[in-house]
Amino acid sequence: METKILSEKDAAVAAQIIRDGGLVVMPTETVYGLGADAFNKRAVANIFKAKGRPMDNPLIVHIGKIEDLKRLVSEIPEKAISLAKAFWPGPLTMVLPKSDDVPDEVSAGLDTVAVRYPSHPLAETLILLSGTQIAAPSANLSGSPSPTELGHVIKDLNGRVDAILDGGSCEVGLESTVISLAGDKPRLLRPGGVTVEEIEGVIGKIEIDPAVTDKLKEGERAASPGMKYKHYAPKARVIILKGSDEQYIRYVNSADQSKVGAICYDEDAERLNVPFFSLGPKNDAAAQAKNLFSVLRSVDDAGIEIAYARCPSINGVGLAVYNRLIRAAGFEVTRLA
Ligand code: TXA
Ligand code: MG
Repeated sequence: METKILSEKDAAVAAQIIRDGGLVVMPTETVYGLGADAFNKRAVANIFKAKGRPMDNPLIVHIGKIEDLKRLVSEIPEKAISLAKAFWPGPLTMVLPKSDDVPDEVSAGLDTVAVRYPSHPLAETLILLSGTQIAAPSANLSGSPSPTELGHVIKDLNGRVDAILDGGSCEVGLESTVISLAGDKPRLLRPGGVTVEEIEGVIGKIEIDPAVTDKLKEGERAASPGMKYKHYAPKARVIILKGSDEQYIRYVNSADQSKVGAICYDEDAERLNVPFFSLGPKNDAAAQAKNLFSVLRSVDDAGIEIAYARCPSINGVGLAVYNRLIRAAGFEVTRLA
């Protein structure tokens, strides 16, 4: 299939493709999404084919106005209303009891649906012009890092989708925060641009799913199906090094330099004598979030075999950076002595 690259002025063309049951990659403020009409089962099935995604991993439905929520869910808890008021449009996804209208293909047979109202103006325009709601996972091939630039999307999905809407580089750079409001207590399933601290400021204490920071044990069921897959996997072996600035530099510089690269902070760069890929300043988690997926792709483009990564602090958006990096590392962490 030939993939059209469209710009903002072609939003109506992209919306028509959605109405006709096609696949359109849309920019969002988090990462690019691979979208289709959420109510068209065949189109939704094609999303899974284009990405090579397992059918048991449910999709997020993207809405263009708050009222769209009513069609998707069977119940709107008080706390969901508070969170929507505080953080929508924006990088927050809420898991809620689904309505009968939502096809099983979208929810992967669960009785809940994940909903998000993105703040990227082009995503909002596309959803509103299409006259429906758009189911969209991240627009990468399954297993590779989520795309935050047009070039990433083209590399993964050219020839596999009908159109790609160019929205420049994504502001947040990591996927949305996912919180479930379908159980007894609100539960964080995936950290993202809206932080735990911000959410708790609105609805009080929430539970953090253990899979956010730790590997699931053998036989343990993932609250969010996406958590069970080794995600965001670059080809290089990524190892997180826990320790001081000094210990990190010394360890990396003494490694076999023909194979090794460093996923570091700006402050480390000039002291390293191996190829380096900086996440950003040490104390700027937002910059690290924005750069992480580009860094992981660059590590592979450079043919690095082993990438030694700094261990991000888990405060604020740092928790999301840590969550993605620890998965890219397949949970491999070395504590430097
Ligand atoms: O920022 C984002 O969320 C991006 C953009 C495109 O909106 N989308 C995204 O989608 O990251 P995806 O499919 O790559 O990740 C969605 C995550 C998966 O881990 C999935 O398992 C989980 O949300 N999820 C979806 N529906 C769910 C449900 N009903 N219950 C629990 N988890 C669900
Ligand atoms: Mg994804």
